[in-house]
Amino acid sequence: MLRKMIVGAALSLSLAAGAQQNDTKMNSFITNLMKKMTLDEKIGQLNLLTPGGGILTGSVVNPDVEAKIKSGKVGGLFGIIGVDKIKQAQELAATQSRLKIPLLFGSDIIHGYKTTYPIPLALSCSWDMSMIEQVARLSAVEASADGLCWTFSPMVDIARDPRWGRVAEGAGEDPYLGSQIAKAMVKGYQGNDLKANNTIMACVKHFALYGAAEGGRDYNTTDMSRLRMYEYYLPPYKAAIDAGVGSVMSSFNEIDGIPATANRWLMTDLLRKQWGFKGFVVTDYTAVNEMIDHGLGNLQTVSALALKAGVDMDMVGEGFLNTLKKSLQEKKITQSDIDIACRRILEAKYKLGLFDDPYRYISTDRATKEVLSTDKREAARRFAAHSMVLLKNNNDILPLKKSGTIALVGPLANNKSNMLGTWAVSGDAQLSVPVIDGIKNIAGNGVQILYAKGANITDDSALVKMGNVFGEKISLDSRNPQQLIDEAVEAARRSDVVVAILGEASEFTGESASRSDISLPESQRNLLDALSKTGKPVVVVMMSGRPLTIQKETEQATAFLQAWFGGHETGNAIADVLFGNYNPSGKLSMSFPRNVGQIPIYYNYKRTGRPQAENAPTQKFRSNYLDVSNKPLFPFGYGLSYTTFSYSGIRLSNTSMTPGQTIKASVTVTNTGNYDGEEVVQLYIYDQVASVTQPVKKLKGFQKIFLRKGESREVSFPISIEELKFFNSELKWVAEPGDFKIYIGTNSDNVKDASFTLK
Ligand code: NOJ
Repeated sequence: MLRKMIVGAALSLSLAAGAQQNDTKMNSFITNLMKKMTLDEKIGQLNLLTPGGGILTGSVVNPDVEAKIKSGKVGGLFGIIGVDKIKQAQELAATQSRLKIPLLFGSDIIHGYKTTYPIPLALSCSWDMSMIEQVARLSAVEASADGLCWTFSPMVDIARDPRWGRVAEGAGEDPYLGSQIAKAMVKGYQGNDLKANNTIMACVKHFALYGAAEGGRDYNTTDMSRLRMYEYYLPPYKAAIDAGVGSVMSSFNEIDGIPATANRWLMTDLLRKQWGFKGFVVTDYTAVNEMIDHGLGNLQTVSALALKAGVDMDMVGEGFLNTLKKSLQEKKITQSDIDIACRRILEAKYKLGLFDDPYRYISTDRATKEVLSTDKREAARRFAAHSMVLLKNNNDILPLKKSGTIALVGPLANNKSNMLGTWAVSGDAQLSVPVIDGIKNIAGNGVQILYAKGANITDDSALVKMGNVFGEKISLDSRNPQQLIDEAVEAARRSDVVVAILGEASEFTGESASRSDISLPESQRNLLDALSKTGKPVVVVMMSGRPLTIQKETEQATAFLQAWFGGHETGNAIADVLFGNYNPSGKLSMSFPRNVGQIPIYYNYKRTGRPQAENAPTQKFRSNYLDVSNKPLFPFGYGLSYTTFSYSGIRLSNTSMTPGQTIKASVTVTNTGNYDGEEVVQLYIYDQVASVTQPVKKLKGFQKIFLRKGESREVSFPISIEELKFFNSELKWVAEPGDFKIYIGTNSDNVKDASFTLK
């Protein structure tokens, strides 16, 4: 034991010494390089451009990129794709610019690169951290093989408002789950060695609070107390920093009246001084310029504000490039402000190994081998199946039998264009497996499939127009709506079971895709009404990038599978789940509201001074609604399996603890159903009396376990003082003595409880 400790200590000492040596080497390399750099060249490093002609992710593209690269006015590029183009651009920098400083090549690799995996919100519903790490790992392997070394991911914005289209890109509403996912993704992208040619630098975004846009309207103002910020919104960013993320992206919104991109408290005091972040900060797309519209001044003023705040790289807007020199001459910024930012960009390039070899990530051989490889397609299928959430399964209608006749209906049943979901900028939708193909692949010859489209995704022309901004995702059928429905009803009548593949178009979520009405489009509601009147069992498979208001639809359906947008292998993965090749295990990472009036809705709410009694009807002078319950339709953490699990009561190793002690909370979980399956066992804690009001529950642990039919397992969670801490009114992370409740269960609303005291 002692020997092990000595060896361990020696190892960590030598690792630390090695890291220090590397830092010294890097620092002196960069100092020497910077001595040779002109002011213009230094400012050039702070300039991130998108040349157009590649992937467009905003409304502006930069002109004259080639000339700018040659004259040292560009630090990095994004939006260009493929080894050939990236190689050409790198050659311009590495051979034709005066100091031959290589470029960074970034991209929005959000849920896969060319191989597209499920949207992040879906992945978060797997509660499977090793799977999520693998998603990021495979994305890095594929993207790095194609010339990229930097991704604008993970997006870790906590969101409590499903009207916001960007909930699709994040991990839902909970800071604890969100933090675990942030960590797993950074690890997956960056690996242990950023210099390796198959790892890429991650960029945590959008710092900060972007998910709290008022009214769920994208780019809107946010305003919240520091307490809410520290306790609920900041932890996932902090987790990414602690995991060593190389870069941070500023958000578009303001914080305490100052846009994040000019917010020195945020970018310097919190991020660097308190959290110790050592990488660089890039703005979001034209976020510097947008501060003119925020009302902070002209381009020169806002650019200087951003640099002074601690922002290092300016995305697309070229405010830094065009004004910083003037600001320096006018003493609005200092030489050292520019030097610090420039050094941080050069450090990133150094850490990625670009100074050793600017073409490190550019290899036609690797690209041929890794891009869209079979192993990634297979993984995509697994990831998608593991991300789906079974919301209802009456009469055990699922899994389906591989016999009889199935009416397969709905606008997303035979559709390639929408399977990838939002932010799949490098994914080719035409490579997707549509559901009809997946079902044919799995069902085999014993099943007759009657297909009918049944409805357009929507008939609302305004929505069609917005859904089709990036090409035709919503096609309007030449038959009229009633004809489409009649055809589907006819197929339903001739079948044993109806499988209806319904949902949103992929462009209904993502950036600039907020909706005030998050119901299923009317065309599809009419279809489901007609199908349910046939009396046949209806299995609804819902594709969406957000929780929708689906109370009536879940009542009409016999079974309901929330499939999100599953990426390239959607069709096979849905079939795997429907026919029981995979027993669903997903759990919601966002509460599903009953109606939009309940929003914002989240499980970790505060009790208030007039709480509604548990399961009580609406009462006068209580915090409730006249017309809807306080409870969501489906709570955070909810999800069914084809099997059932029972939970024993909680056993505590002790009913009191002192600050230095740990207690153990255990339950026995038994698979009481007819299938082997996985369960996510969830631990929540409630601090019953504290100096700052506490939410009714906070997730503090979870374990995803596999149990064979009939098998039981003890699941234990250690609870130390760390799990009992909260931010007090001085923003100190403290635990206060008193009584705590522990909850363990299958979702945030269905739990066993026990109590203990912190002395
Ligand atoms: C704007 C988006 O907000 C951000 O998430 C993305 O990374 C950039 N555009 C670059 O495409």
